[in-house]
Amino acid sequence: MDRILIRGGNRLSGRLPISGAKNAALTLMPCALLTEEPLTLRNLPRLADVDGFGHLLNQLGVSTMVEGSRPDEFGRVMTLKAGRLTSTVAPYDIVRKMRASILVLGPLVGRAGEATVSLPGGCAIGNRPIDLHLKAMEALGAEIELAAGYVKAMAPGGRLPGGRVSFPIVSVGATENALMAAVLAKGPSVIENAAREPEIVDLCNCLVAMGASISGIGTETIEIEGRDRLHGATYRVMPDRIEAGSYACAAAITGGSLDLVGVAAADMRATTAALIDAGVTIEEHADFLRVTATNGLSPLTLSTAPFPGFATDMQAQFMAMLCMADGASVLTETIFENRYMHVPELARMGADIQVRGRTAVVRGVDKMIGAPVMATDLRASMSLILAGLAAEGETQVQRVYHLDRGYERLEEKLSAVGADIERVSDG
Ligand code: EPZ
Repeated sequence: MDRILIRGGNRLSGRLPISGAKNAALTLMPCALLTEEPLTLRNLPRLADVDGFGHLLNQLGVSTMVEGSRPDEFGRVMTLKAGRLTSTVAPYDIVRKMRASILVLGPLVGRAGEATVSLPGGCAIGNRPIDLHLKAMEALGAEIELAAGYVKAMAPGGRLPGGRVSFPIVSVGATENALMAAVLAKGPSVIENAAREPEIVDLCNCLVAMGASISGIGTETIEIEGRDRLHGATYRVMPDRIEAGSYACAAAITGGSLDLVGVAAADMRATTAALIDAGVTIEEHADFLRVTATNGLSPLTLSTAPFPGFATDMQAQFMAMLCMADGASVLTETIFENRYMHVPELARMGADIQVRGRTAVVRGVDKMIGAPVMATDLRASMSLILAGLAAEGETQVQRVYHLDRGYERLEEKLSAVGADIERVSDG
């Protein structure tokens, strides 16, 4: 397994390119299942999860062709083509490694009238149920069977009638599955209490480019007119607002200044508002966001919430940053039940954090000390990288395969703006 070594203390400065969004890519790729024509995705990030999803789609009969690109280029162009599906089964050995695999459920039922998907099981941050995905399929007219660790969804007569999906709580993935199932339904559908994340908007825009009829995009009520078929399209994946927010925290925690190139400022207002409250200067420019630390960081009180609230995917990174604030911060994680796995690892570096239930009190310390630490999940890994950038001495982050799921060429991007960071392979 690879490790990342960081020798902290350098102020970061310069231009840092933001890649395509992982959480958009993972819902755009299964859209290829909805048509027999080619779907070309541009600005697809080079990430382990994107490769994993491509492998899953290959198992279903989708061809995935990646255009050549220069080694120094970020992102890739991938053309996906589901001319003829060879399977409608997402197997356990793939799904257990990447829970986003559940996002083939909706498009498979929409296109083929059936899907058999292994139950994903939990992960480090929570048990991650899929009950809302299944209720959405039923609301659209599918019959659901659970057996031997798999869920089977079938459309009576081979095509979903469509219907009204009303979510009791906001779910990004369940909204995505509902959308991808409804676009090929016989009749109209409505999704109420839909997630409003920018990645949902990106999905809707891609589906519209493929010929879908969707209104209410970006709102909590989305209406879909089912189509008999969709056609291919070429679509550019949106920039990654969580990657951008993570590197904004890197500028803040090192007392530096970074120009985050390519990010859409409108997608990360809750993040930039929190950074400004912490004393960081934010300047919005045409094609970059300038993030500049001033003198010190102020403590914050933050609760995670569905978009447009403060993103749960930014909680761990802010916690690392607030370990260096002048005072006590209070963070409350309202989305996932176990998203504080980074706390004991940050404590090994000298952080002063008390967790009670869903709330963490972070008391700022004068300095953090580099140490060997263990990554446990994607965003927790980034919080350890951030702490290492500010800590005295060397930090060694182990199990960086977690990072490779969501951050394209992280050490290259950070080295280019002054970080003393390297990846060490254990062979
Ligand atoms: C997506 O996960 C993202 N993943 C997550 O990003 C992100 O943290 C999350 O949305 C919230 O924004 C991808 O897009 C691939 P949810 P998802 O359904 O769709 C509960 C990262 O770090 N729930 O919105 O799985 C669930 O347990 C990852 O990039 C049910 O109860 O999240 C959670 O408490 C981590 N039943 C809440 O809803 C269900 O059927 C929100 O989950 C589904 C979800």
